[in-house]
Amino acid sequence: MMISGGAGMAEVLVVRQADLLEARRKVVSVDGVEIGIFQVGTDIYAWRNHCPHQGGPACQGKLMKGVEERLTEDKQSLGIHYKDDSLNIICPWHGYEFDVRTGRYDGAGGLRLKGYPVTVRDGGVYVTL
Ligand code: FES
Repeated sequence: MMISGGAGMAEVLVVRQADLLEARRKVVSVDGVEIGIFQVGTDIYAWRNHCPHQGGPACQGKLMKGVEERLTEDKQSLGIHYKDDSLNIICPWHGYEFDVRTGRYDGAGGLRLKGYPVTVRDGGVYVTL
């Protein structure tokens, strides 16, 4: 891992972009902190691999579209559907779902994965800690 930066911030090369494009996800360890790096289309996100519910390895869970119940105007159910253009990380411990783009859990409690800024430069993906 290459580290640069100063004043308490460190930019770390975590993965080559080509490797991430192929895998879509990499979980790396930087100074003992596990971070999940996710490629979604042309965007890249970095989340701490620590579920805010009870500390599970959220970033190693399945990736699935979110689901929603669609309703008519008079609130009759049209059934459960996968949300278009959504992608959630499912924590393997208890199944909480976190939006891979925002890190947010839609259920109660306002839970959210801790995120890190990502920079892509010269074919490398860098995370700022
Ligand atoms: S620890 Fe992740 S859902 Fe409980």
